[in-house]
Amino acid sequence: MKELHFGVDYYPEHWERERWDRDALLMQEMGIQMVRMAEFSWHKLEPREGSYDFGWLDEAIALLGKYGIYTIVGTPTAAPPAWMINKHPEILPIDREGRVRGFGGRHHDCQSNPVYREYIRKLVTKMAQHYGENPYVIGWQPDNELGNSHQELCTCASCRSRFQDWLQKKYGTAEELNRAWGTSFWSQEYNDFSEVYAPRLTVTGENPSAMLDWKRFCSDLIVDFTREQTEIIRKYAKNQFITHNYMGFADKVDYYKLGELLDFVSHDQYPGGFYLPRTPHEENHVLAATLDVVRSYKNQPFWIMEQQSGITGWEIMGRAPEPGQLSAWAMQSIAHGADAVVFFRWRTCAMGTEQYWHGILPHSGNPGRRYRELQDFIQEVDPLMDYMHGSMPRPEVGIVFSFEQEYAFRIQPHHKDLSYTGQVQKYYRALYEKNIPVDFVSEEGDFKKYKILLAPLQYLMSPELEEKYMDYVRQGGHLLLTMRTGVKDRNNFCMTERELPGRLSEVAGIEVLEYDCLRNAEVEVLFHGRKFLANIWSDLMRLLPGTKVLVAYASEFYAGEPCITAHPYGDGICYYVGTEPGEALMEALVDEILSRAEVNSILPPVQGVECMFRENDRERFLFVINHSGQEKCYEAPQGYQMLKGVQAGCLGAYETQILKIGKS
Ligand code: GLA
Ligand code: ZN
Repeated sequence: MKELHFGVDYYPEHWERERWDRDALLMQEMGIQMVRMAEFSWHKLEPREGSYDFGWLDEAIALLGKYGIYTIVGTPTAAPPAWMINKHPEILPIDREGRVRGFGGRHHDCQSNPVYREYIRKLVTKMAQHYGENPYVIGWQPDNELGNSHQELCTCASCRSRFQDWLQKKYGTAEELNRAWGTSFWSQEYNDFSEVYAPRLTVTGENPSAMLDWKRFCSDLIVDFTREQTEIIRKYAKNQFITHNYMGFADKVDYYKLGELLDFVSHDQYPGGFYLPRTPHEENHVLAATLDVVRSYKNQPFWIMEQQSGITGWEIMGRAPEPGQLSAWAMQSIAHGADAVVFFRWRTCAMGTEQYWHGILPHSGNPGRRYRELQDFIQEVDPLMDYMHGSMPRPEVGIVFSFEQEYAFRIQPHHKDLSYTGQVQKYYRALYEKNIPVDFVSEEGDFKKYKILLAPLQYLMSPELEEKYMDYVRQGGHLLLTMRTGVKDRNNFCMTERELPGRLSEVAGIEVLEYDCLRNAEVEVLFHGRKFLANIWSDLMRLLPGTKVLVAYASEFYAGEPCITAHPYGDGICYYVGTEPGEALMEALVDEILSRAEVNSILPPVQGVECMFRENDRERFLFVINHSGQEKCYEAPQGYQMLKGVQAGCLGAYETQILKIGKS
């Protein structure tokens, strides 16, 4: 079977049966090769308890199949039906304020509820038995955007008791739990696991160690919820894949762990945003970072399961994508490692919450500008996707990304403007603006692939991770560590044995003796004789022998003291950044690190133009994407062949060129 590259999210159940043939024909004419269906249609599949009706879905799958269009089946567990909720209201989730969240939206479910789990097992088993060998069904998506809408949910009795079990398994005894959570503070000791609560809104403050375990528990619950479905599906669907639609940097579930259940990861990409005003160029680095982090979750090519295909918005709408812009966004997904792009949605829905989240077709169902643009796009790009099959971006720079650090900073952000993912994206941006491709890498990942490894805010530390960083530098790596590294152990306790950053002082060549949280203030710094600004935080440190000062503070009571340092260690260098560099300083710092590690831009940067590459063992594919509505010029490299585009170096509005470069 040919590799499938393009699809749409399709909801035939929202339209009269007479329309389906026309939809299928229009899809076929457009080049659509697959659809995702059914991920919210529990009631249609089981209208009454125990009475299943798959007829409509069978018919839709067969009809599309006749037009050469394959199906990805979604399990509808993001939308339990009213009959079930009425019979078992305990399925409804309870939020941190103790309020029951009602029926009428989606994800109104408690993922630990045993009754709900039983309903799921029955339905998913029926579906897997029914579709597991259907030749037109190629794969599965359990639930939808797991973790979405479950923020702050659920604290019901069932979740509380599962949390207790989870803790018992982890700690064994109540004494051990008390030690790990530091419960002697404010008299929070437990005599037994059965006394532990799921965290409800408190009168004042929270225990950071308890909250960290709660976040870990919630993530594990989602993984477990998903595993139950993937096990059933795999039993009956031996030749069909299982994927799930992720949401980039969303943090409710540890996506690395969820990925272990999946054949490949998918992602929903909405550059127009969620009813926010569009801020074109500023946001491109965030879009790119999002795609790169998705690629990192399994460290392999991924799919886009929902790619924006019109105006976004529920109650309030975003701007209309300009001619060419939908294609540029889809191209960006491909450039960063997507092997397939499924557009959300086929036709704009006439009813329900998402009436204004626009599809390829407008409400009228008549093909218009968006249909024609994406039709041309698919016709042109589909053969190129076949050609580039198996290629991946292979960056020389890695940025460590960790859900545990994200959780810890959510619990204690330190400063109103500090966020872990925000900080990671600031480093990313400096590289992006210079056309330096980046991989994200988990704490468990392979650091040695990278000439440069940036590890911002490594707040929670373990002896193994310390050793891994030290070893990386010893063997010649260029490592960047920052403020708030090595502050806590994995129980979220402050380290007390040594000055910060603990054992990493040896590799960083500094000891942090004091710090200053820059509340409503910036600090001036000096780098190569030039003044810059830095924000959020100042570490005040003592240098160990051999450490060089790159940047020094130039204001506050610590003017003249070191702010950013470089320390040769083994065959490598460790940089320590005691602050959050402002944009200009970030750029200068990144330049310095790149030149010392001899990492070069893939092309000289041009404002509004993004460069990315994918490669296999023989060839390198350079993507140059114009994100602006104006023509742009760039300097084409030597020795290329045009794979897409006419005149290398000259880009029309929103045009993408792909240049093929042989590898010697
Ligand atoms: C998400 C969901 C879709 C839909 C779109 C648009 O990405 O997965 O079901 O709700 O957003 O709102
Ligand atoms: Zn619950």
